[in-house]
Amino acid sequence: MRFVDILEKKRDGHELTREEIEFFIEGYTNGTIPDYQASAFLMAVYFQGMTAEEQGHLVMAMVNSGDTIDLSQIEGIKVDKHSTGGVGDTTTLILVPLVAACGVPVAKMSGRGLGHTGGTLDKLEAIEGFQIELSEQAFIDQVNTLKAAVIGQSGNLTPADKKIYALRDVTATVDSIPLIASSIMSKKIAAGADAIVLDVKVGEGAFMKTVEQAEQLAHAMVNIGEAVGRQTMAVISNMSEPLGEAIGNALEIEEAIATLKGEGPEDLTELCYVLGSKMIVAAKKASSFEEARHMLKTVIEDGSALQLFKEMIEAQGGDGTIVDDPKRLPQATYTSEVLASQDGYIEKIIANDIGVAAMLLGAGRATKEDEIDMAVGLRLHKKIGDVVKKGESLVTIYSNKEDVTTTREKIERAIQISATKVEKQPLIFETIG
Ligand code: URA
Ligand code: CA
Repeated sequence: MRFVDILEKKRDGHELTREEIEFFIEGYTNGTIPDYQASAFLMAVYFQGMTAEEQGHLVMAMVNSGDTIDLSQIEGIKVDKHSTGGVGDTTTLILVPLVAACGVPVAKMSGRGLGHTGGTLDKLEAIEGFQIELSEQAFIDQVNTLKAAVIGQSGNLTPADKKIYALRDVTATVDSIPLIASSIMSKKIAAGADAIVLDVKVGEGAFMKTVEQAEQLAHAMVNIGEAVGRQTMAVISNMSEPLGEAIGNALEIEEAIATLKGEGPEDLTELCYVLGSKMIVAAKKASSFEEARHMLKTVIEDGSALQLFKEMIEAQGGDGTIVDDPKRLPQATYTSEVLASQDGYIEKIIANDIGVAAMLLGAGRATKEDEIDMAVGLRLHKKIGDVVKKGESLVTIYSNKEDVTTTREKIERAIQISATKVEKQPLIFETIG
């Protein structure tokens, strides 16, 4: 096989075979296909797209380029959840114990984050003693006994994706739906998922800026799942304003605890119900979303979801008493309020700018080397459409430095108030599967 012939075929819009796609992935991963040919390939895919079958072959070739996690010792259907990323997204922290309390085994491999706040792993490390490194056997044993564990990614998963992603970054081929879809799905499958529930975020604070783009991405991933025999469902949710109220690591752990008690913000709670119901149905622990929702409600009301969170923290070496007393989490030295400058209705809360404001306080990393300050962040008191009075607090800033002028100015610009009534934003635009 000559790679130049494959390039020509894709360039002219023809469908590639499994062997041709495997030839690309193997060759690029082991270095026999150089960057310049791989770049041409990615650009051809960018313009010509890929069929569902091609995307399925691409995903499995990427999965097979490295290690895979074998979760077969865990009983039951292993469902993974993935979010395409947003501001203040605390859902994973809540869903792991919530769904596990309904009997679904959740073996979660999570990442650190670059950006507004840390990733799920960073957030969990706001809990004193919490260990994110378990051996594969300890991880599996914990899921079998407790139903839930969250660890950092180990092993050499999907090296082809790492190499291709880096090349896409410098060849203007990141925003190609088939490439994004196969990148995400390959990582989920390599991590051992039997079924996958996707939260595709749309809006100013997300990767996908329009509902139409988000739909395309969601359908592409659901089709890939079908092509490779993994049941996949998707939810398209709003990220034009931040989710929930808290943005920050310890603050989001506290928010997760409140939500597991049934006292969380309405939007975050509802999204957890929708995603959690899908996870339970995918795991075949309920036959309808209504039945699944009822199960979720029950484990919140009887305290078993919160109890499971505490047990998981303790099993992984962490201080479980934070569940009873969240003030034991790292606390910021200073708090200050951002006040409304006029009466009216909240018109915009630009999610991305709010995220950057939290990052400026130290809640997230701008570069891989940055250290996160677990205690700092923001708490939003308003949502789009809410009534506001002049002088009322819009946001509380939690900081470890006295001067928060740049953060404050950023927040003031990010929140816009209208004198006339503003409609609330929908939380969920569409569910698929
Ligand atoms: N996230 C991923 O993991 N891959 C992409 O290609 C884009 C977003
Ligand atoms: Ca939040």
